[in-house]
Parts: sequence; structure tokens; C-alpha cells
Amino acid sequence: MPFDDLRQWIAALDRAGELKRVKTEVDPILEIAEITDRVSKGLDAKGVPGGPAILFENIKSHRGARVLINQFGSEARMKLALGVSSLDEIADRIRVFMDVKSPQGILDKIKMLPMLAEMGKFFPKIVATGPCKEVIQREKFSLLDFPILRCWPQDAGRFITLPCVTTRDPKSGKRNLGMYRMQVYDERTTGMHWQRQKIGAEHYREALRRAANRSGDGAAASRAAVDIMARSSGGSVLAEGGRPSGKMEVAIAIGTDPAVTFSAIVPAPPDVEEYLIAGFLRGAPVELVKCETVDLEVPAASEIVLEGHVHLDELRTEGPFGDHTGFYSLEDLYPVFHLSCVTHRKDPIYATTIVGKPPQEDAYMGKAVERIFLPLMKLTIPELVDINLPIEGVFHNLMIVSIRKSYPGQARKVMNAIWSLGQAMFTKCVIVVDEDVDVQNLADVTLKVLNHIDPERDIQFMLGPVDSLDHASRLPNYGSKMGIDATRKWAGEGFTRPWPDEIVMDAKTRALVDGKWRDLATELGIK
Ligand SMILES: Cc1cc2nc3c(=O)[nH]c(=O)nc-3n(C[C@H](O)[C@H](O)[C@H](O)COP(=O)(O)O)c2cc1C
Repeated sequence: MPFDDLRQWIAALDRAGELKRVKTEVDPILEIAEITDRVSKGLDAKGVPGGPAILFENIKSHRGARVLINQFGSEARMKLALGVSSLDEIADRIRVFMDVKSPQGILDKIKMLPMLAEMGKFFPKIVATGPCKEVIQREKFSLLDFPILRCWPQDAGRFITLPCVTTRDPKSGKRNLGMYRMQVYDERTTGMHWQRQKIGAEHYREALRRAANRSGDGAAASRAAVDIMARSSGGSVLAEGGRPSGKMEVAIAIGTDPAVTFSAIVPAPPDVEEYLIAGFLRGAPVELVKCETVDLEVPAASEIVLEGHVHLDELRTEGPFGDHTGFYSLEDLYPVFHLSCVTHRKDPIYATTIVGKPPQEDAYMGKAVERIFLPLMKLTIPELVDINLPIEGVFHNLMIVSIRKSYPGQARKVMNAIWSLGQAMFTKCVIVVDEDVDVQNLADVTLKVLNHIDPERDIQFMLGPVDSLDHASRLPNYGSKMGIDATRKWAGEGFTRPWPDEIVMDAKTRALVDGKWRDLATELGIK
């Protein structure tokens, strides 16, 4: 059953014993973060890592406000959010759709009808109005009315941390939904932290190119075609060498049903709209309403909607911000979002998250992405058997993959394929093992990888784009990556020594000991 909105989701969390309501007064400045950090690193009542989702109901200086946090912060809740008992179920559903062959006859066509009917449910539906329009504020509004968190002591201010940001591709007209944090500068302006490789940033660059072309300034157009969000420690900057002026419309939904919020972090290809992904995950269309002041649509059932523009000729220092790497991401220049209107429910629930040293709730969201994307990765890397992005690798730092190796050099081919695949391009360290290594078992991986490598021979370095959050790379956004080929080496790869077998007891002896094991275990005092 899909959840129509955040409230249905909160009710489901409540029913499942996954939500705690906190009536003690708490401060959105640092205190909620400290509480949530302790909760996410602890165990819940069932002894499961992640702690409960929390609805704070008594927020200092925000009478009547409520803050939802840690909604995705355990494996169980991630599955509940997506309505599955195992995340691999979603991968299986994707596989069914990818398996579709051209129908051979009328019978095949008839067999496809249920699938086509199901696909019809994925597309978003525009509706006339919705709960997010209960209050429409075009004049007297202030972001400071919402209980927006300041998460860590060195953060540059308050940050909206769970915003579903909608932009429209100026070229194709297609919408994109991405989650990009927003630093609150004042009552009506925020930062717009779309990192330069993300789709919101590409829409922004395209808007710049178009504005420059309209002004007839070819030089400005070509400047705009490259990313001119150069690093600087300065304050607000305007028009770098005459940046074309103009605006780009942006709309932000805060507090949506969990499938929509999750879809905003999914690294979908640019032309696949995330509302379609949310529809697929929910098995029901996302209902969208038109915004009041911009030509964009947002989920009708959102708790809060922020409408406005980023100006094409304005960048401003954003950050620092305590990030999911466990370190502060450094300040940098990003576009500025100017609000033109706020719409919300009468008593909006402010949905947020904190990121910091793992594990936090984004770790469970990332793990869900890993499981769901495996079948899609296999489309371009068919030898892939399994992948693991360990939580402490903060997703862009470490990916362990097992492959069915069939030809010399294949591990290096796989590394290059990963570095060419959407946001997997950021992966700082790719470890490739043979298919008999269980990548989910880090003890097995450590044993086999370190035994199997001759470091000088098996480590491949690659230069290229790195995550904006990487504070160690030689330059912001550009640096080196490393692949470790920990597969068995073949003669065809120049390895002529014999490769030893892994130690495994023979079946006969194992069976012999199995038969005596109960008695032996009692005698030995082990389970
Ligand atoms: C809690 C959370 C906060 C995030 N904040 C940012 C951010 O500030 N900037 C950014 O570029 N990506 C951020 N991401 C990652 C993006 O949401 C993710 O890369 C997504 O695929 C971007 O959407 P896009 O592919 O449509 O651009 C965040 C992810 C999570 C889970």
C-alpha cells in the first residue's frame, strides 16, 4: 500500500512501533542534532541499530511546530517506506520490466497487458489542488518561522537538509527532482547546493547558456557552458566577467510521502524523471499541483512548498556544513535561491535529517539505492555479481564488487565502467574480487583482497572527477581514484606461478564431524 503523504507514513511508523514522540522542549539549534546522533548510533527497543524515527513536538521558539527526523534511519524503516520485505524485491521488479521481449504473437501481447496497466500507474498526475495549498503566503512569510536545524557547531548557519528540489530542463522541458541542502541566509534567501555534476546544476548551466545566447554574447555563452562556479573564499559575488542575467525557476517540497523523498536522492539518468521512479516504487502515481508563482509542479500532499528563483548572475559562499563524510564540507560558491511564495498545510510537519559521522539515516537510504541499482548496473556491466558500499566508506569512498571473470584484464574494464557510470564516477576506491568472494562479508573480503594482490601490479590509479565533499583531493572536484584488482591472476595476465587453492575441508570429513557435533560441542563447551 503506498503512502499518500507524510502523515500516512507517520501513522504507519507509529503502528509498527517505529516512531517515538518527544514532548520535552528541544532546541533546533544543535540540540536536536545531538539527540538524533545519539539515537542513530544506538539500538532501538528491538535491539536493532538505527534507533526509532522521532517526532519532536515541543520545539524551542516555535510553538506548535513539529519536526520529523530519522524517518529512514533503519533497514526495517527503509523497507517499510518502500512497502517491501526485502530491498531486493524492488530489484526483482525492475528486472521483470527489463526482461520484456518483443511480443511474438497475440498471446504474448495479451500477457503483456497487466504489465502495461501497471506501468500506467507510474506517471505523475496533475491535480487541481491539494493539502500543500491550505496556506498560501506571497507577502508576509519568513523561512525563520520554520524550525530549521543548525546541525553542527561549525555549520555556517541553519540548513534545510531534506528538501526535494524541482527544476525544469530548459532544453527538454523535463522535470528533475534532486535533494540538495539549502543554507538559510535570511528570511527569504538560501543557498542552492547542487554540486556541479548534479542535474539541477546542469539545468542551471543550460539556463545560463540560453541567457547568454539571448543576449547575443557568444563569449559569455561559452563561459557559461563551462562551470564557472569557481572556488573562492569571498562573500557574495556577482557577474564574473559579465555573467548573463536572468532567473531560473525552482520549487522545493519538504515533507512528502517517503517514496518521493527517497526518489530525490536516487541517481537516476538525466532524462528519467524522479516522479516516475516514485510512482514505480509506490505502485501509484504521484499527484502534483501547479505552483503559485513559478511554472513548476510539486507533490500536492507536501507539508511545505518553497517557490522561487535562482538568479543566473549571483553566487554566494555556502558552508561549511557538517557532512556525511564525518567532516565539515568546506565553504564554496553556489547559486542563491530567492523565495517568491511559501505554501503549506495549516499545521505543517517539518521533515529533516542530520548527516555526520556514519551511521546516520542517509546510510540506510544509500544502502537502498545500492540494492535497487544493482540490476541497472548489470545492464552495462553484465559480469557484475554483487556490490557492497560499506557505510563507513560514505558511498563515494569505497565500492567492493564481485565479478564473473571470463577474460584477462576484466577487473580493470569493470573499474573503468564504474568510473563512467553516473554518480559512481566519484568512487574513490573500487575493489574487484572474483564471484566466489562474498562482498557483503568484510572479513572474507579483507582476507582475500590482501592475500590476492601484488600492490604495485594490481592497483590502478585514475584521474578524474571526484565528489565535491572530498577534502583530500588535489583540487576541489578533481583528483585521483584507485582500483584494486583482487581477482585471481591468470597466465593470460602474465601471472605464470601456480595459484593456490583456498583451504576447505573435504566433504567426507565434514560429514563425519557433523554427525558427532552435538556431543562434541557439549564436551567442548561451545555452541
Ligand atoms: C540527506 C541528503 C542530502 C544531500 N545533499 C546534497 C547536496 O547538498 N548537494 C548535492 O549535490 N547532493 C546532495 N545529496 C545527494 C543527491 O541528492 C543525489 O546525488 C541525487 O542523486 C541528486 O539528484 P540528481 O541526480 O537529480 O541531481 C544529498 C543526499 C542526501 C541523502
